[in-house]
Amino acid sequence: MQKSLLITGGAGFIGSHVVRRFLTSFEGYRIVNLDALTYAGNLENLLDVEHNNNYVFVRGDIADTALLASLFQEYDFEGVVHLAAESHVDRSITNPLEFVRTNVLGTVNLLNAARNQWGVETSARRFYHVSTDEVYGSLGAEGLFTEETPYDPRSPYSASKASSDHFVRAWYHTYGLPVVISNCSNNYGANQFPEKLLPLAIHNIQHHKPVPIYGDGRYTRDWLWVEDHARAIEVVYRKGVIGETYNIGGFNEWQNIDLIHALCRIMDQKLGRPAGDSANLITFVKDRPGHDKRYAIDATRIATELGWKPSVTFEQGLEKTVDWYLANTQWLEHVTSGAYQQYYKDQYASR
Ligand code: NAD
Ligand code: DAU
Repeated sequence: MQKSLLITGGAGFIGSHVVRRFLTSFEGYRIVNLDALTYAGNLENLLDVEHNNNYVFVRGDIADTALLASLFQEYDFEGVVHLAAESHVDRSITNPLEFVRTNVLGTVNLLNAARNQWGVETSARRFYHVSTDEVYGSLGAEGLFTEETPYDPRSPYSASKASSDHFVRAWYHTYGLPVVISNCSNNYGANQFPEKLLPLAIHNIQHHKPVPIYGDGRYTRDWLWVEDHARAIEVVYRKGVIGETYNIGGFNEWQNIDLIHALCRIMDQKLGRPAGDSANLITFVKDRPGHDKRYAIDATRIATELGWKPSVTFEQGLEKTVDWYLANTQWLEHVTSGAYQQYYKDQYASR
């Protein structure tokens, strides 16, 4: 029987890069992508692989117990890479329960399904939970998040992810489920839904719309190119020690305002606009409630123990990203029509 791996959330931003990577590097394996296709899930992200013989797409909800039981029985997955989640902090502030349902209940449902199918014979199995650095809370001016940093989530999103991490560890300690977890910093790159800072800014600059910066813009994030995250996920999946956690990041901190100025310079160049044109669109707006001041990952462990490091510099990654959005305006137009318009109005009208 052909071996199968389950990837959840594979139609989303990071998930689509992981599906593509695993289809290439796990030769002969069947890759099953389970995704509910929420507003963030988009099959256009995977047009290039949808006819691959080793690829199966299943539209479904990770909180659906019966569906998971039947999928685990049908495919007897060797491993799970779990990315499906509600992922946007601002949406978690307006609709926290959806985050509890998907990120907490959905994850526990998936843990149960794996445990029920795998029983005690787990030697070749692996349940990989993809998490975020936001579980560690907010840093001051100094210091980095290590794997030992105590959890201190501040938003409904990060609280739901922290909760799911705890459940994953509980299934390891209590039931012996062979789990591994990674916590990554902010990703950027192709196919990111334009509710997140960089694609939103690229889209608005293209259309000469204001680029909203929350508060004073002096919030710091650590940025990693999404394909480097997908590479890290493969490395952790293959070589990570069961029961362990790996932080993933780019050692690449930027304050939001400086990042957007760097983006504006690239956009002026690429769009043939006069220098400074895009920066005129920067508009300071009301801050995000509970806005975490600074995230920064210490990615020493994954580098020294598993041999992973980013493959591109930030300058290279950002330029590739801008090039992708400018070459794929149809993708952006599709995802920003319809429901996006209402979201944007609700999210930014009152700021
Ligand atoms: P995304 O919002 O782009 O994609 C999430 C995907 O999950 C979508 O395809 C959506 O349809 C699917 N989904 C949502 N609810 C579902 C459900 N109930 N059942 C099945 N599928 C469902 O998210 P992303 O940015 O690609 O993030 C993927 C994962 O990586 C998340 O777990 C997130 O917490 C984590 N993460 C993201 C970042 C980042 O910077 N984006 C950084 C670190 C970790
Ligand atoms: O750190 C990892 C996390 O990064 C992931 O777990 C999340 O899924 C992902 O959404 C991301 O969270 P952030 O809240 O950091 O990303 P976002 O793109 O929403 O915001 C980045 C920074 O920019 C943050 O400080 C808020 C700010 N911001 C964001 C938006 C959307 C603005 O100033 N203006 C905006 O319009």
